[in-house]
Amino acid sequence: MSELDAKLLEKRTTDAEKQAKQIEEELDKIAKGDLSFIGDPNLDKLLSDNEKLKHRLAILENAIKVESSPNPVIKESRKRPNLIMDINSIEGSICILDELKNVFEIAIMSAYPSLEDPPVVITVSGNNPKFGDYQCNSAMPISQILKSKNVKTNPREVANNILNKAPTSPLIEKIEVAGAGFLNIYLNKALATHILSCILRYGIKPPPVKKEKVIVDFSSPNIAKEMHVGHLRSTIIGDSICRVLEFLNHDVLRLNHLGDWGTQFGMLIAHLQDMFPNYKTHSPPISDLQAFYKESKKRFDEDEEFKKRAYSCVVQLQSGQTDYIAAWKLICEVSRQEFQKIYDRLDIQIIDRGESFYQSRMDTVVKELKDKGYLEEDEGRLIMWGNPEKHEGIPLTVVKSDGGYTYDTSDITAIKQRVEEEKGDRFIYVTDVGQYTHFMTIDACARRAGILKGNRKIEHVGFGVVLGEDKKKFKTRSGDTIKLIELLDEGLKRSLDKLVEKGRDKVLTPEELKQAQEAVAYGCIKYADLSHNRINDYIFSFDKMLDDKGNTAVYLLYALTRIRSIARTAQISNEKLLEECDTSGFKLEHETEWKLAKVLLKFPEVILKVSSDLYLHSLCEYLYEISLAFTDFYDKCYCVEKDKSGNIVKIFYERLMLCEVTAKVMERCFDILGIKTVSKM
Ligand code: ARG
Repeated sequence: MSELDAKLLEKRTTDAEKQAKQIEEELDKIAKGDLSFIGDPNLDKLLSDNEKLKHRLAILENAIKVESSPNPVIKESRKRPNLIMDINSIEGSICILDELKNVFEIAIMSAYPSLEDPPVVITVSGNNPKFGDYQCNSAMPISQILKSKNVKTNPREVANNILNKAPTSPLIEKIEVAGAGFLNIYLNKALATHILSCILRYGIKPPPVKKEKVIVDFSSPNIAKEMHVGHLRSTIIGDSICRVLEFLNHDVLRLNHLGDWGTQFGMLIAHLQDMFPNYKTHSPPISDLQAFYKESKKRFDEDEEFKKRAYSCVVQLQSGQTDYIAAWKLICEVSRQEFQKIYDRLDIQIIDRGESFYQSRMDTVVKELKDKGYLEEDEGRLIMWGNPEKHEGIPLTVVKSDGGYTYDTSDITAIKQRVEEEKGDRFIYVTDVGQYTHFMTIDACARRAGILKGNRKIEHVGFGVVLGEDKKKFKTRSGDTIKLIELLDEGLKRSLDKLVEKGRDKVLTPEELKQAQEAVAYGCIKYADLSHNRINDYIFSFDKMLDDKGNTAVYLLYALTRIRSIARTAQISNEKLLEECDTSGFKLEHETEWKLAKVLLKFPEVILKVSSDLYLHSLCEYLYEISLAFTDFYDKCYCVEKDKSGNIVKIFYERLMLCEVTAKVMERCFDILGIKTVSKM
């Protein structure tokens, strides 16, 4: 909760309380026999206001509870009791926020031992140095809790009590009580210089976390159908989620849940047999599988004979008939090659494990669900409700009336496989928000069937629709759906235009120009997607994403190359910087240096937050924040001083060191976003 949120919440709570109290007083009077209200036209209104306010109060109290309850990552750290006593024991990466939570948890627990699970609310302070670097905003909610237990107190008093019990920590220089009961925390500079030196020397290390097996189901296009912009979003977001988790050393399984099974293969195989009778010996030259799909669909819809044959093909395929399996494999292969082109360009690693993988397992799962009595008959189908008592939403269709399986069947089977065979700890699915209900039903049914237990759950990473600049569904000018390869090609062309427009073709070698072109093209497409809150729809605009101002990949890539060039022009080697780091170290004297340093120190907490809520835009915002803090620093602080004729007269090594660390943190962020950086552009 930000300071502002906390203040608002506090204000709204006291307002609501005040009004509720007024009404209680009125009612009290009435109870004591004051009947002057009779005939008062406001009575009904007052009574109903009272109800509303009570309701509102309950909501606010709940909001406080939710807001202040720690997220899972923090819970994890709560189990880590060892408070840091010595800065030198920190090996390069520490989540300051978590450590401050440790400190204040101890303080709060010892100040108020009777409170069960008290809220430990720590936030980064705003820009005003008066508010310290971080804040503990626990005093307000704790004072509320105490008041509800009839303890007379106020937030300031609570804050002071917490302060008195706070253990000393080498992270903290001082703590102050301010305003209505905020605890302002000032970080110790020695901590910052230690961590920055570690980064300079050893690179960026992930903060320590408990290793988990995480299964990420993403991209997942459908065979013989086009891979559309929705799949592109899933690919970009999913890849980046994997990268965050891999950086934290989790065991990540990247799965492509391809739509590679189903009745559509009947008509495709039947059509294949007609068009390429010798497909078994000569690989058919299907270059345009979508057109092939359309042709077969047309025949299926118009020709009864063909339709019958298509159905029999499905049966043959599902019974594992060799020729049919071969035909199916052939068709899948053509699609896969198409998808692979996209993955290669975007540098995506993924393992194909389509719906067909679960074929035999589906039989077992269906039998099991049937035997345990979870399935109900419904007009010939077998369905399953997440909650048999309360039929909410849509049930899963586990078996169709013709005996076939569905998308639901493969997903309930897949989650069982992922829990029991893969032994996953987290199960992440990246699809458009439209599939949210589907996955929540899978979660509910899997829980009911005992597949998912305890805090194992399906995490649906939903995203909005891609819109064109006209805010309508993203289409080409002629109204066709956009082919992804063509979209990427256009990105390449536009990015080259942009570089040429800036005259970069005259300074870069052809090799460097090509690298810059690709980094910008794919980088801007990925960044535009990742930098928006994924839940929202987003407008695809090359003009916007190629803008070199604002929070765009182009701006940030330029910022990074500029930082890189500072050390290059000063002609200072890495060895020299390390030497200087050992002898004189970081100074962080100027206000903007200290600010930049603090932003850089936030990296672990940003990463941990993203790894828990899976919202990548906060990482993009962080990257932008670094670039702004850097610009501010670079505007105000000389790194290298030159005389009138351009000769270097003084080198500020500690600032060059800060540049280097900034570049390292930015590069790591880019890497996690799946964006390639270049040293020149
Ligand atoms: N193939 C599906 C589609 O295009 C996405 C699959 C997502 N993953 C899953 N396990 N259902 O919509």
